[in-house]
Amino acid sequence: MADDDKKKPDGEATVPEGPRPPVEARTEENLVDPPERQYAEPRKVLRQKVAPEPPTTGHSWDGIEEYDNPMPRWWLWTFYITIAWAVIYWILYPAWPMVSQATPGILGHSTRGDVAREIEDFETRNAAWFERLVATEVAQLREEAELERFAVQAGRAVFAAQCSQCHGAGAQGVQAGGFPSLLDDQWLWGGTLEEIHRTIAHGVRNEDDPDARWSEMPAFGAEGLLDEDEIDQVVEYVLAMSGQSHDADLAALGAEVFDWNCAACHMDDGSGNTDLGAPALNNQIWQYGGDRDTIRQTIYFSRFGVMPAFSERLRESDIRAVAVYVHQLGGGQ
Ligand code: HEC
Ligand code: HEC
Repeated sequence: MADDDKKKPDGEATVPEGPRPPVEARTEENLVDPPERQYAEPRKVLRQKVAPEPPTTGHSWDGIEEYDNPMPRWWLWTFYITIAWAVIYWILYPAWPMVSQATPGILGHSTRGDVAREIEDFETRNAAWFERLVATEVAQLREEAELERFAVQAGRAVFAAQCSQCHGAGAQGVQAGGFPSLLDDQWLWGGTLEEIHRTIAHGVRNEDDPDARWSEMPAFGAEGLLDEDEIDQVVEYVLAMSGQSHDADLAALGAEVFDWNCAACHMDDGSGNTDLGAPALNNQIWQYGGDRDTIRQTIYFSRFGVMPAFSERLRESDIRAVAVYVHQLGGGQ
């Protein structure tokens, strides 16, 4: 390639070899007219003002000097305006940090105040809805689509703030804590709007609310009501009625133990009783757990699930909203 001829691999240009060709002497014959060029009109050139050389800042870096030109006017004015703006801002708004708080500013503005105002706005905007929630019969809260929609939205917020720490963010429950799922149609205390409302307002087995729901399963082992054999038998029977693998002989004996000791609360067929908060045992849904060990633990020591009452903590409208929210999660009756 032509390039390769002219350049060494490292890119340096090579000097052509041999003696330099002699420079042709200028003669009449080899004089060529220069290419035509456009020159500025001489008059225009003259009219252009020749600016005087501006002074320099006096610094010099390797011979490079810096002109000391004045700021452009527009720039300077913008700068003055921002200074004026800052001063006005200091006077109107909180600005300078002092020992305990910042200077307040004569407008009395505060972000905390903004939030309070927003909450107030929200309350006044929704006051009519909250009133309607309280004025409507609890059982009828889901009859009217608009009111229901409002209740579900408001209830979702209440649930996230007040209930999710126990029942889980999605209301799926936490078996290890005995916090029941609120998604299924199995209810300890009843799944109608009114029953759910009552459970939330008064809670379960708490000491604070005289109207709290109350019942107590005896600790059959710890209190010596049943001996170890009987407990083993009735555990197998509960496994059987919930459709799990079990020892059939023990379960047959357990049926009798169950009739005498358990059916009063859990019913003959193990379907439970919402008047007593006694869960159904003939299905796969468990509050505390359905494996052999956990069932034995429940029967031996019993359980004592406590839910706080919300009638003192929440407004009636919030309790109703969250009751609607829970009811529409899937299991409402
Ligand atoms: C401190 C934990 C805790 C909090 C907070 C809590 N719950 Fe409960 N909740 C429980 C427990 C435990 C039970 C089961 C009580 C039992 O054993 O009968 C329960 C039961 C229920 C039941 C009855 C379920 C059924 O099957 O009948 C409903 C409904 C309910 N909770 C709704 C709520 C709502 C709504 C909130 C929030 C406003 C809430 N809970 C807040 C612990 C809690
Ligand atoms: C006085 C009524 C009562 C009697 C009698 C009773 N239970 Fe219970 N049982 C309950 C209640 C109430 C609960 C729920 C306890 C709680 O939430 O704290 C429960 C819970 C259970 C559970 C836990 C269910 C789950 O979902 O985790 C099992 C298992 C159980 N009982 C079995 C029995 C057996 C077996 C007997 C008879 C030996 C019996 N119970 C007798 C009231 C009773």
